[in-house]
Amino acid sequence: MAAPFESRLATEADLAALAVIMDLAIGELQKGFLSPEEIAASRQVMGLDTQLVADRTYFVIETRGQIAGCGGWSRRATLYGGDHSVALRNAALLDPATDPARVRAMYTRPDFARQGVGRMILKLCEAAAAAEGFRAVQLMATLSGEPLYRACGYQEIERVISETDIGAVPLILMSKSLPPAFAVD
Ligand SMILES: CC(C)(COP(=O)(O)OP(=O)(O)OC[C@H]1O[C@@H](n2cnc3c(N)ncnc32)[C@H](O)[C@@H]1OP(=O)(O)O)[C@@H](O)C(=O)NCCC(=O)NCCS
Repeated sequence: MAAPFESRLATEADLAALAVIMDLAIGELQKGFLSPEEIAASRQVMGLDTQLVADRTYFVIETRGQIAGCGGWSRRATLYGGDHSVALRNAALLDPATDPARVRAMYTRPDFARQGVGRMILKLCEAAAAAEGFRAVQLMATLSGEPLYRACGYQEIERVISETDIGAVPLILMSKSLPPAFAVD
């Protein structure tokens, strides 16, 4: 039987467990998409952004007491990156009338991959952003994330290369229009 997934907002008490999930997802689930060198470089622009947790816009998906994945959205300008990606950070608040909300930091624990965790988080994020009046969402996709986002209706805006001090990481800027506030099934 498929695992019964449940969602809740992350709290500061989850941070250590979330860091472990992210580390596993970055290392394992990018393997068919990036070289080992690119995966190493990707760690510089991926990982935990505690602002999302502090803002209570970060979801945890659990099943039978285990965290299966995490991901969130943001009303702030930062498009991607973790606490350590200082140059990418911009805490300015977005205007729902004119700016797209962000979808951020989607990670599935590798043994729960391809079971709908990513899709579930995206729905939660889109519903929450629409409820605050946002009309679109934007995200910076990894190559590992691209199939999920395409399957969920996101369209490519442009392909970019993020340069880090240990190598380049290919990324894709993507977006999706949101209907007026809608409910999650
Ligand atoms: C991206 C990620 C979060 C997807 O999580 P997931 O829980 O496995 O995704 P889902 O099970 O909800 O997938 C939904 C659909 O997306 C597509 N999809 C997801 N992963 C895919 C893959 N590796 N290859 C092809 N299609 C894929 C499929 O259409 C899938 O539906 P299906 O399984 O019925 O065919 C996960 O692969 C991950 O953690 N990757 C590493 C970290 C990362 O790059 N995060 C994205 C940051 S932008």
